[in-house]
Amino acid sequence: MFGLWKTWKALEARGIMGINRRNADYVLKYNKRSLYPIVDDKIITKERAIKAGIHVPELYGVISTEKEIDKLDEIIAGRSDFVIKPAQGAGGDGIIVIADRFEGRYRTVSGKIISHEEIEHHISSILTGLYSLGGHRDRALIEYRVTPDQIFKSISYEGVPDIRIIVLMGYPVMAMLRLPTRQSGGKANLHQGAIGVGVDLATGLTLRGTWLNNIITKHPDTTNAVDGVQLPYWDGFMKLAAGCYELCGLGYIGVDMVLDQEKGPLILELNARPGLNIQIANDCGLTLRTHAVEARLEELKARGIEESVEDRVKFAQELFGHIPPVEG
Ligand SMILES: Nc1ncnc2c1ncn2[C@@H]1O[C@H](COP(=O)(O)OP(=O)(O)O)[C@@H](O)[C@H]1O
Ligand SMILES: [Mg+2]
Repeated sequence: MFGLWKTWKALEARGIMGINRRNADYVLKYNKRSLYPIVDDKIITKERAIKAGIHVPELYGVISTEKEIDKLDEIIAGRSDFVIKPAQGAGGDGIIVIADRFEGRYRTVSGKIISHEEIEHHISSILTGLYSLGGHRDRALIEYRVTPDQIFKSISYEGVPDIRIIVLMGYPVMAMLRLPTRQSGGKANLHQGAIGVGVDLATGLTLRGTWLNNIITKHPDTTNAVDGVQLPYWDGFMKLAAGCYELCGLGYIGVDMVLDQEKGPLILELNARPGLNIQIANDCGLTLRTHAVEARLEELKARGIEESVEDRVKFAQELFGHIPPVEG
């Protein structure tokens, strides 16, 4: 307990953002309520992304009513792997990742065998709103299963790691790699038991990690070091995340991306209330960085300038890099 307290105290001194400040000064200030559906509904996010030419996992089908559950066979015909998720879910709840079929049944990514009836029942639960924000009726979406790039093999246990970047008014401010563990059942959500690893914005090199509120340097399942790993396509991820501001119009978002073995970088989802644990993983508070972006915006406004995605990424990389350039 004392160790954690010390960590928070140290972060506070470096401008840690608490939940009240996040809500009042960022979420409420920069995120227009009327735009929330774009990020709170994964089907709408997908449609927007496709229109903007941004790659996402392919949508195989949508089930909106009990009656449409019969369509499932048709949607997954000829496919041995796919993902079912609630359109308005959060925190990894209600997501089933099917990796294979097995004698008329399905095998999840963590090896559990489930029947067709169980899947239908699960979809029915999604529709009633069991996993949706506020318990509202929801839709189920069936999509392409992402196969993670080989780079993650040694530092991830099953499932798909994702890369989260917090973006303020189109400027990336902090990044984290989230790694599934045995405990998280193939999902990369921290509260399911995944690890969060800080990422240097300038280089895409991983920093240390946080797991169940502890600071770690090794993956608990694979025992490999989680720090010092170079993420591929780093500048591409930064630009993808920065461009999500134009895509959704929300000023303060968490952009979740994955690296598929075949399709490359894809956007998984956008969050209008991104979590604050990213600060522990980066050993750094958000406030100093968000203030720097706000000061930049003021300055540009005075000069009547708006920056492009490339300029915004460059600004963030020059200012928010963790690792000083190597000497000599
Ligand atoms: N298409 C997919 N293929 C493989 N794994 C996925 C897929 N979609 C989601 N996941 C896994 O589930 C996690 C949560 O998915 P996400 O779409 O971000 O929903 P949530 O809003 O519940 O966080 C991801 O971080 C990833 O690990
Ligand atoms: Mg997510």
